[in-house]
Amino acid sequence: MGYDHQAISSPNFPSFLIFCFITVFFYSSATAKTLNTLQRGSSLSVKNDVSDFLTSPDNSFTCGFYGVGTNAYWFSIWFTHSRDRTVIWMANRNRPVNGLGSRTSLTRDGSMVLTDVDGIQVWSPDLNSTSANLAERAELLNSGNLVLRGPQGEILWQSFDFPTNTLLPNQLFTKGMKLVSNLLGRGNFGSGYYSFYFDNDNVLRLMYDGPDISSLYWPNPGYSVFDNGRTNYNSSRIAVFDDLGRFLSSDLWRFRASDMGLGPKRRLTIDYDGNLRLYSLNSTGFWAVTWEALIQRCRVHGICGRNGICVYTPEPKCSCPPGYEVLDKTNWNKGCIPKFNLTCSEPVKFLKIPNVDFFGFDLKFMESITFSACRKLCVDDCRCQAFRYKLAEKSTTTLCYTKNALFNGHKSPFYPGSLYFKLPLHVDTSLPAKLSVTGSCMDNETMAVVVGSASMYDKKTKRMRWVYLYSFASAVGVVEFFFIVSGWCLLFRRRGAVAPTLQDDFRRISSHFRMYLSSELKKATQNFKEELGRGSSGVVYKGVLEDQRVVAVKKLGDIYHAEDVFWAEVTTIEKIHHMNLVRTWGFCSENKHRLLITEYIENGSLDKHLFSPGFLAWKERLKVAMGIAKGLAYLHHECLEWVIHCDVKPENVLLDSDFEPKIADFGLAKLSQRGGRGSEFSQMRGTKGYMAPEWASNLPITAKVDVYSYGVVILEIVKGIRLSNWVTEDDEEIETEMTRFIRVAKHRIQSGEESWIEDMLDPRLDGEYNRNQAAKMIKIGISCVEEDRSKRPTMDAIVQMLLEC
Ligand SMILES: *[C@@H]1O[C@H](CO)[C@@H](O)[C@H](O)[C@H]1NC(C)=O
Ligand SMILES: *[C@@H]1O[C@H](CO)[C@@H](O)[C@H](O)[C@H]1NC(C)=O
Repeated sequence: MGYDHQAISSPNFPSFLIFCFITVFFYSSATAKTLNTLQRGSSLSVKNDVSDFLTSPDNSFTCGFYGVGTNAYWFSIWFTHSRDRTVIWMANRNRPVNGLGSRTSLTRDGSMVLTDVDGIQVWSPDLNSTSANLAERAELLNSGNLVLRGPQGEILWQSFDFPTNTLLPNQLFTKGMKLVSNLLGRGNFGSGYYSFYFDNDNVLRLMYDGPDISSLYWPNPGYSVFDNGRTNYNSSRIAVFDDLGRFLSSDLWRFRASDMGLGPKRRLTIDYDGNLRLYSLNSTGFWAVTWEALIQRCRVHGICGRNGICVYTPEPKCSCPPGYEVLDKTNWNKGCIPKFNLTCSEPVKFLKIPNVDFFGFDLKFMESITFSACRKLCVDDCRCQAFRYKLAEKSTTTLCYTKNALFNGHKSPFYPGSLYFKLPLHVDTSLPAKLSVTGSCMDNETMAVVVGSASMYDKKTKRMRWVYLYSFASAVGVVEFFFIVSGWCLLFRRRGAVAPTLQDDFRRISSHFRMYLSSELKKATQNFKEELGRGSSGVVYKGVLEDQRVVAVKKLGDIYHAEDVFWAEVTTIEKIHHMNLVRTWGFCSENKHRLLITEYIENGSLDKHLFSPGFLAWKERLKVAMGIAKGLAYLHHECLEWVIHCDVKPENVLLDSDFEPKIADFGLAKLSQRGGRGSEFSQMRGTKGYMAPEWASNLPITAKVDVYSYGVVILEIVKGIRLSNWVTEDDEEIETEMTRFIRVAKHRIQSGEESWIEDMLDPRLDGEYNRNQAAKMIKIGISCVEEDRSKRPTMDAIVQMLLEC
């Protein structure tokens, strides 16, 4: 007591108190702006390159001036903990202000203004207040929302109502709102050409609105609203994603982050390349893609501009056709311009580029006409810049399209037919000296099973790389030149008959993918009555859905129980469409049950048709070998989710009524291994006899394991017996049938005997086969089962080889 009294009466105390008071006062006024609230009458500005900030209470978001370079500043909100301070909102994206002297103030009369150094008002939000201009304070919330509050705390304005290119969790996306991409990569925040919005028919869409054209590219413009899994009947036009990473929209579009669950900070951003991506922030401050709208990035319209062609190498790159040059290398949206002027009367030649399509701008479309008639259509029409000639799907009808503008060019091995560019006769189309390709397909094999983790977009500085068409053309080695003037028709007709045989598979498939209730499936399968088969991943039952579709219902085994993993993988499987892959219609995930609903394939699996007593004629054998190759090539190279099957064998190849093969069970490798970490497989997968030797070693698993298994299968198709069986002599297993087969085949090929093929084939064929095809298939098979995986061809190369025989 006495001590206290004495202390208070100490003569030093009042001065100490004053000192404290002053310190606290200055301290608090100096730090007022680093809190989350800006009071009326104060402002945020940049001084000595350091901006005043508002910080959300949990420190996730920062609001202030975001500077790029020496003197361009934007009033923005960004993620505090992301390495590159990812901006999620900007007040003045198209009008940066000066660093020194610019400020955002909450004025004494209660409005917010952003003024440049010269006093010009650059931006000011419209407050939805009847007692106009009465904002008491600006507050940055934990959600990343900057709000202006009135005297009663009511919200007069919020940044969430005016998104720029990013949507945050729980931020409502509604009618009239638009996410607009940045113009280019880092450092250019101006409005770009791509936008995400609710269209007039209530459907969420992505649109390219460039200098030349505008077009919708997502969801797939080739399908109806309903085929795209949307509805246009709900006019509320509202969409939102929650803290778990689940997106839901009034047009019924929904998706989930591949890392669904509480924890990571997320954002949905329309990137400058026109793709819409969901990102998660990891603990090291980098972003990982957990969902994206277009896996096939070349399908984004406008990406390579007028005349430009998008090529997968496998990452998308832009190129110009020969005779054209890029207008602006830093902005491919501007496309390529011709290095020639084509007058109407000039003689022309055509340059053929296989597997290329340009979306839209058809001048004429004709069916069942000859190649030369199609070419003549283009020669005779001054407006025609190119034509496309191909075979229709599953028929011998020819299709001819002449084009008067070339936009949205896209090259894919899955595009049938070729595009023929019209050029003046004098234009030099020889290839330039420098032909090197930056980056090759092979580099990416090892990244095959990683989904959405390493992204080239999370580091904004790393832009897409581009090459000229020459480069990819020479790399692929498929550009053929066709010089035609009127007199050369004969020559051309003969060579022009190079028939496109690949199918335009994915276009016609609609996406009716959905979730089923277990009660529906119980009913469909009559309580899992008819068992179709059993595999490593589960038991398959036959069922009939309410719409009379016959389906196969697979009950997955225990390893697929984690719900978030299941969801993520199902989202991937949903997007994989190819005529040689079994189509998945939907899934069911209730309690502990995990089921997949796929199409029912009439003719059962390949093994039943191939090994005795089954028998396939030669034509069917070739078709099956080709189909499996195409399906695997799609998984490995085209579908860009980099799926490795890991269990290719005759049991997993189903045959439809036309004996067209469909690969089953793909994607499940991902399903079972994603529970672990990264791309490492936690357990061996596959079936003895079909498994590549690297499974036994410590080498990383690449797409080449499927190539190996394919090799075994194609040899079995040729030989008609199970090559994985052991050959026994005197009750001793001495080698597998395959080892013996390869040994004998190599020996016979080397010895140059004429009759070597006969001995290697299924004797039941009884001479009914094509020698060349058989020889090709055996050689492909042998190269696929090479011990050294770098010597095995890729599935793409195998498809090419089979096409040539
Ligand atoms: C329209 O969508 C909203 C948001 O998803 C939903 O709440 C509402 O029930 C839907 N209306 C109809 C008629 O389906
Ligand atoms: C094509 O013609 C235009 C106008 O006549 C001219 O400006 C341009 O330079 C010509 N381009 C070439 C490549 O000759």
